[in-house]
Amino acid sequence: MIPKHSYVPILLIATIIPQVCGGNVVDLSSEEWTLSSSALNISVRGNVPSHVHLDLLEAQVIGDPYYSLNDFNLRWIAWTDWNYTTQLDGLEQTNTTSAFLLFNGLDTFANISLCNQHVAYTENQFRQYVFNVTDILRSSCNDSSFLLNVLFFSAPATAEAIANLPDQETWPRYVGTVFEFPHRHFIRKEQSDFGWDWGPGFSPTGIWQKAWVVQLDEERDEVYIKNSLLDIYRVGQLNNLPPPDQTADWVLNASLDIIGTVPEGASLSYLILDLETNKTVSSGALSNVTNRGDVITGTAILEGSAYKLWWPAELGNQNLYNITVQILSDAKTLASVTKRTGFRTIVLHMGEVTPEEIAQGIAPGNHWHFQINGHPFYAKGSNFIPPDAFWPRVTPAKIHQLFTSAILSHQNMLRVWSSGAYSPDFMYDLADEIGLLLWSEFEFGDALYPASPEFLANSLAEATYQVRRVNHHPSLAVWAGGNELENLELYLVNYSAPDTYAKYKAEYETLFLDTLLPVVWENSKSMTYMPSSTNNGYLSINHSSPHPLIMRYKSLVEGKIYGNTDYYNYNVSQAFNISKYPVGRFSNEFGFHSMPSIFAWRNVLAEKDLHFNSTPIMLRNHHPPSNNLNTTNFANASIGMKEMTLGVEAFYPVPNKTDKTANFTAWIYSTQIFQADFYKNQIVFYRVGSGKRERQLGCLYWQLEDIWTAPTWAGIEYEGRWKVLHNVVRDVYSSVIVAPVWDLVTGVLEVWVVSDLWREVKGVVTMGWVDWKGELLDLGKGGVQTLGFMVGGLNATLVGRYNITQLFSQGNTASTNAVAGSVDARNALFVASITATGTPVNTNATRTYTHRNFWTPTPLGKAELEDPGLKVVYDPLGDVFVVTATKGVSMWTWLSAGLEDQEVVVNFEDNAFLLLRGEIKRVKYHILNLGKTGSEGWRQRVAVKSIWDNTLP
Ligand SMILES: *[C@@H]1O[C@H](CO)[C@@H](O)[C@H](O)[C@H]1NC(C)=O
Ligand SMILES: *[C@@H]1O[C@H](CO)[C@@H](O)[C@H](O)[C@H]1NC(C)=O
Ligand SMILES: *[C@@H]1O[C@H](CO)[C@@H](O)[C@H](O)[C@H]1NC(C)=O
Ligand SMILES: *[C@@H]1O[C@H](CO)[C@@H](O)[C@H](O)[C@H]1NC(C)=O
Ligand SMILES: *[C@@H]1O[C@H](CO)[C@@H](O)[C@H](O)[C@H]1NC(C)=O
Repeated sequence: MIPKHSYVPILLIATIIPQVCGGNVVDLSSEEWTLSSSALNISVRGNVPSHVHLDLLEAQVIGDPYYSLNDFNLRWIAWTDWNYTTQLDGLEQTNTTSAFLLFNGLDTFANISLCNQHVAYTENQFRQYVFNVTDILRSSCNDSSFLLNVLFFSAPATAEAIANLPDQETWPRYVGTVFEFPHRHFIRKEQSDFGWDWGPGFSPTGIWQKAWVVQLDEERDEVYIKNSLLDIYRVGQLNNLPPPDQTADWVLNASLDIIGTVPEGASLSYLILDLETNKTVSSGALSNVTNRGDVITGTAILEGSAYKLWWPAELGNQNLYNITVQILSDAKTLASVTKRTGFRTIVLHMGEVTPEEIAQGIAPGNHWHFQINGHPFYAKGSNFIPPDAFWPRVTPAKIHQLFTSAILSHQNMLRVWSSGAYSPDFMYDLADEIGLLLWSEFEFGDALYPASPEFLANSLAEATYQVRRVNHHPSLAVWAGGNELENLELYLVNYSAPDTYAKYKAEYETLFLDTLLPVVWENSKSMTYMPSSTNNGYLSINHSSPHPLIMRYKSLVEGKIYGNTDYYNYNVSQAFNISKYPVGRFSNEFGFHSMPSIFAWRNVLAEKDLHFNSTPIMLRNHHPPSNNLNTTNFANASIGMKEMTLGVEAFYPVPNKTDKTANFTAWIYSTQIFQADFYKNQIVFYRVGSGKRERQLGCLYWQLEDIWTAPTWAGIEYEGRWKVLHNVVRDVYSSVIVAPVWDLVTGVLEVWVVSDLWREVKGVVTMGWVDWKGELLDLGKGGVQTLGFMVGGLNATLVGRYNITQLFSQGNTASTNAVAGSVDARNALFVASITATGTPVNTNATRTYTHRNFWTPTPLGKAELEDPGLKVVYDPLGDVFVVTATKGVSMWTWLSAGLEDQEVVVNFEDNAFLLLRGEIKRVKYHILNLGKTGSEGWRQRVAVKSIWDNTLP
């Protein structure tokens, strides 16, 4: 499926074309626009869709917003009001035509006028807006000047004005984290536009989505479909409740949002096309049609077994169908819409653990895991943040590259974090094709929000548009109300102002339970809704109650396990202490930050700034949140820089190289190793939990990718390069793994085999100890141990147990232990490998699974590492890089392009690996970009190193 050395450039994106019969549709992207500010005397060419920053960049009024300190230098753009102006072409002017302006997204506060007549004021980036401008066109425009003007007001200034309105809501201290610009929670705009701990705060503005003028002859019943909903679910299915009966028929519910008026007596028809065979599977009339004029809805019952199911990656095929729905009146087709979809059920099961399950060994409490087509599965993935501060420049090719990277590292779910923006259709389309589930959220996060009628109505309109727009995508996994609300923001209120907790909790429930839940449940019978990304589940669920979900919040019972977990600990001394990790049913956030590569830094910094604590590097470290970031506020950035430094110093040989660039590069590599090592320890801990009483069934680390180049939690840099983390994830997200788990409190090392296949796996594990020269060590257990094992479906089995305190008495110094003889913990490496036979999910052919893992009894910083004698050569015949360790053991073996090849963006499929002495590894690679110049011969300049290189001067 995935070609060997390059990302697939061909995109099979289903474009959704509402086909109007009759009518005149003018695409505002093809008009000539001017972007101007009268106050600044700037006037340049504008674009739709676009953002002011991008248009100023294109016109060379500003330089690259991502360069150096431009996050701060360009703030004047955010404080300015901007006009987008065009002279409309291609309009028809007749006495019977009505005309509408249709905007799929205005970012954010816009005054729209046509022919100098006021049309509307908008205040929500995420709503679709339609304005009837028929009367203005008829009365105020003359043929030569259809002047359309969209005036955008500064979002930070507007947010401040709203915050200062009399009677405006206020919150206790600590609630609502501030990054760069304050007051983000008063406005419905991408919350991270005002800055976040991993990104810049540009507050972009503009007509950021497509826009049209739609002209309809309403006397001839012309109508235009502006949005549509397809919902496919099993007969009897109820939101949030498993398991929908997998043998039941399907229900198709189609509902079309219309510009114009659908005449009374109109009917709906449907046609379902199998995109694999190109054959029509089913067609006919929809029944129970309700026609409100602007919304027409109908349903059909479809045969339960007639459709191939859609599955996430590695769990089956991504079978897709086109569904076409037509509006018919007097034997005439008024309009039709085609959407690509799939047949699947996905439920987030949060119900109570049953007595039968408790008898099987599952801890009591509530469940918190996903079921696809009625089957629980292990969710492996990460958190997806906005891939760019400027969405209009995010291309399908960019998303495809990120999704391909996710798939290559065995991920099946991304949590699309709020508070960025709702994912564009092409993102869901790509996820449908590649098999990535997208956990989706309404764009509220890390704050509490107003509960005024205006704010609720604005949020309701936004949510309704978005739910209906994307519901047909089989990759849509769940809707969450927002990010870190229950476990962080409500917790903070309770902590800092307990006497007001009830009031703020009531407001929270008004928005997240009484407003947003009904939007999901009334539009979609196929989706689960939960109010907050991390939560303790519900106490009760009753679909016929006006308050169907009663959330558990803090009513916890000792000994029971509830909900999902979100864990950060920046005290690096605790990084590998598993007794600090949360024991829950599902982990949806955890992480630590690291530096991006020198290649990435070189593209955004001056040569003089290429050192660890340079001013621009520190000011691009936005962790911890500063409250008011500016170019003189280093207080929190230095805390963030120090955390990374301490992580390296605590566990790895500390780089101290005389060459400035070499030293910087070694530090970058080391921060990435600490990050990856920390994540690996947690991922393994959570996955082993699938076989423990917590029955842990999901792990989504923070965060998949970067929005720009900065010290962040990302595993993939802005330009697409994999950091050490992404390579390590690719290894520990394999289906069947062997996993050392060390408990530093008890001093016991356990060795587990974990499998997320659905049927049992049988195999052999080999475990033993070597020294850094690669010689076998006999630690009194007969040297190398080989044992058979069996792991059940979605389970984990303990295969080894070592009392490390006894094996290496004196811990980090030379052992005097009688059994271990003269073995020094500093010269010992534990290696375990497995070979197993199992059956991939949804197939019958068996497959061999292999995996190897390691553990050291002292941190590598204290180990007596040896020169591994690493060599790399490019083998043109196999088109692979051949890496060998000729003299000793190589830890965190790392391939990278030569320092002079900084335009080369390449990912090595295996990287950051262990190589024992004498081992040969053949490494495939993926080219993302070879740059404009200087890439000739880059393969010969690929370099290899290991953590031992840190010990060199
Ligand atoms: C936008 O255009 C209108 C109409 O020409 C003008 O009155 C207003 O001053 C302009 N505003 C800005 C910020 O350029
Ligand atoms: C359209 O309206 C104008 C002014 O109201 C009128 O003069 C004209 O005759 C009308 N045209 C048609 C085709 O009805
Ligand atoms: C749009 O406005 C025109 C003129 O007021 C009116 O005749 C028409 O019915 C309106 N169309 C819709 C769909 O509201
Ligand atoms: C599928 O069928 C349609 C209509 O019969 C035809 O136009 C189209 O070329 C076919 N596509 C493929 C991929 O066979
Ligand atoms: C149409 O409505 C009737 C009555 O509520 C119901 O029994 C029937 O199942 C519905 N048909 C479909 C296709 O939903």
